[in-house]
Amino acid sequence: MVFRSRIVGCGHYLPQRVVTNADLEKIIDTSDEWIRKRTGIQARHIAAEGELTSDLARSAAQEALKNAGRKAEDLDLIVLATSTPDETFPATATRVQAQLGMTSGAAFDVQAVCSGFVYALSVADNFVKAGAARKVLVIGAETYSRILDWQDRGTCVLFGDGAGAVVLEAEEGSGANSDRGILSTHIFSDGRHHDALYVDGGPSSTQSTGHLRMQGQEVFRHAVNNMAQAIDVALEANDMTPGDVDWLVPHQANSRIIEAMARKLNLPMDQVIMTVQKHANTSSASIPLALYEGVNDGRIKEGQVTLMEAMGGGFTWGSAIARL
Ligand code: ACO
Repeated sequence: MVFRSRIVGCGHYLPQRVVTNADLEKIIDTSDEWIRKRTGIQARHIAAEGELTSDLARSAAQEALKNAGRKAEDLDLIVLATSTPDETFPATATRVQAQLGMTSGAAFDVQAVCSGFVYALSVADNFVKAGAARKVLVIGAETYSRILDWQDRGTCVLFGDGAGAVVLEAEEGSGANSDRGILSTHIFSDGRHHDALYVDGGPSSTQSTGHLRMQGQEVFRHAVNNMAQAIDVALEANDMTPGDVDWLVPHQANSRIIEAMARKLNLPMDQVIMTVQKHANTSSASIPLALYEGVNDGRIKEGQVTLMEAMGGGFTWGSAIARL
């Protein structure tokens, strides 16, 4: 029997506290104008004290399950993308598994920074295709506020906290272009670019959590090139042209990068889901948060072709095409 996976429900969670650019002006030497002009970001959500990545993930997962009309006990796998886990181990996914009341199957984390959701989707989709899982929860959840250096204006203005989730379900059929479901995923990495974007801490190196460090222009340059390559590979694999894409749901790092991707696809911005202005960069949560928004407000309709792409520390990057 041949299987493909279909997205049957989406969920999201954003912490209650909203921090605007004007709020940041009070704590660091920055301006709303600088942040908006360079990134499009106007505000971000920040987790409350004691609110953990697993809490954000659980809330997004519960909503995704509800919208899918499925129960936690129906699941046989949770794949959680995060680079801000609750603890060094166990995997945050196992905490979410326990909180949801799922006592069978398996749960594990995937670490690919801002590409995390595309990686997790790829892992989950391949489990389904191999016949090794039938109902999978894929989550992207982050509390970047905990790893930012709040004295470094070059990075702390760019990120926010949040979580998004989707439920994947196995359906029979190989996933011909006209079928609903995940049509393809492609993931890539190039570890030579470690120094452009990393966290200067960890259990094995410093025995501390560390802070995010970034060479912004270097990341920008690679982001545009790498994501363009991932888009080309995805379109070619599906025998599609940019004209076949109904929606671009990109990683939300920066409005200028997103606009460059839309130009590459010749897509008008009203076919691009943009949340970066209100969420900032939520790393692995940004694509499922944007997907949730597009589906929930009725813009993305059943059967439409949705292209997702991301790039993050590592470098890692990738793309996925789904007919929703
Ligand atoms: N407020 C005011 N001034 C600032 C701030 C700030 N928050 N941050 C930096 N500056 C200053 C710098 O100190 C510098 O001042 P100087 O000229 O006096 O030295 C000036 O602004 C220009 O700094 P640059 O770093 O050259 O600014 P640039 O135009 O490259 O923009 C930015 C920086 C927005 C980070 C850009 O490089 C970028 O978007 N890069 C992509 C990074 C990214 O999206 N990373 C996310 C993770 S990876 C991913 O998700 C794809």
